[in-house]
Amino acid sequence: MCPLAAGGDWPAASAEPRKRVPSGRGTYSRDPHSRREGCRSSFQALRAHQRFTMRKFGLLSKALPKLQTKNVPGEHTSFMNELALERKPSILRELMKNHATASKNVVFIGEGLPHPETIPFSEVSFTLKDGTKKVFTGSELVTAINYLPTQGNPKLVQKLREFMDRFHAPLRWEDRDVIATAGSQDGLSKVIEMSLQKGDAIVVADPVYSGLASNVRPYKAQLISAQYRKNGLDTVEMKDKLTAIWSSRSKDVKIPKILYINPVANNPSGHVISDEQKREIYEIACEFNLLVLEDDPYYFLGFQDELPKSFLSMDTENRVVRFDSFSKIFGGGLRAGWMTGPKEIVRIVEMHMQVSVLHASSLTQVNLKK
Ligand SMILES: Cc1ncc(COP(=O)(O)O)c(C=O)c1O
Repeated sequence: MCPLAAGGDWPAASAEPRKRVPSGRGTYSRDPHSRREGCRSSFQALRAHQRFTMRKFGLLSKALPKLQTKNVPGEHTSFMNELALERKPSILRELMKNHATASKNVVFIGEGLPHPETIPFSEVSFTLKDGTKKVFTGSELVTAINYLPTQGNPKLVQKLREFMDRFHAPLRWEDRDVIATAGSQDGLSKVIEMSLQKGDAIVVADPVYSGLASNVRPYKAQLISAQYRKNGLDTVEMKDKLTAIWSSRSKDVKIPKILYINPVANNPSGHVISDEQKREIYEIACEFNLLVLEDDPYYFLGFQDELPKSFLSMDTENRVVRFDSFSKIFGGGLRAGWMTGPKEIVRIVEMHMQVSVLHASSLTQVNLKK
């Protein structure tokens, strides 16, 4: 039984930062305080520069909200590898985030935004099959084709939170967050990159989505697999294999940190994991301290009368990262999806996106929001 499911207390979000993870678990090898100090000085300098600029141009000091400068390590660092723990926020991208909510008086010179007048389009429109038209002109068009904060269009992100609340009602929203991604594969690969190290093991249901297998191949990851059988996934096999690894009978396999699962209309077998089995699998994840990657692009496309329960909806321990996708409903080429998970993990993915794609397509995001 998960200790927290039994009514235990959640660790306070602002509790004392954890020092080291017990030996044998995770890769956390540094004092979190020293990493935080590392980025503090450059951000203090930046903040001082902002204050100077605002004084110089006579702007109100309130015009610019406080920069988010920290990646505060917490409960989930044991799922992160050394590279992920070294990530720091991109100053320009943090400024862009602030710009989105700053007063209109603030002139943003951080990133190279083209002047709206130089943009060659006057209108972009989408027409639905039922005749509904979505037209973007003027300032809406500028928003639709300009840079966005990495987490996504703030109004879309808010809508996604509400959407997740409606369909999954995850507990303790204050410990979770959402980020718009360029499809679910984008978020999934970034969480894999956040966690895996060469030779790590990962728990999967067999047959596994080939996009996941290709993703973990360069890590020479060992797949600890449980088979789909007539009655669903063989959770006994999953538990037995994990017990053997933990009791060090299988010394050559590392203790896994991740359980990857594609629970509805599994690609490629089409299997659907029942709600009851999901509960069993979640218990196993709690018992063996696994981060659950719930890759669920077909969630709304099942043939059941009722929508299935998601792992996210039963997540009392904040150990589920859920990947959703617009690909199977609106079209894969839009490259639009989103990820919901523990705040710290969403933050790592955000920092990764800050230096890779910068953000998912603005045009796609404003279109979906509208
Ligand atoms: C299980 C699974 N995960 C992820 C993806 C990729 O989805 P997206 O287009 O949202 O990146 C697919 C696409 O086929 C899939 O079947």
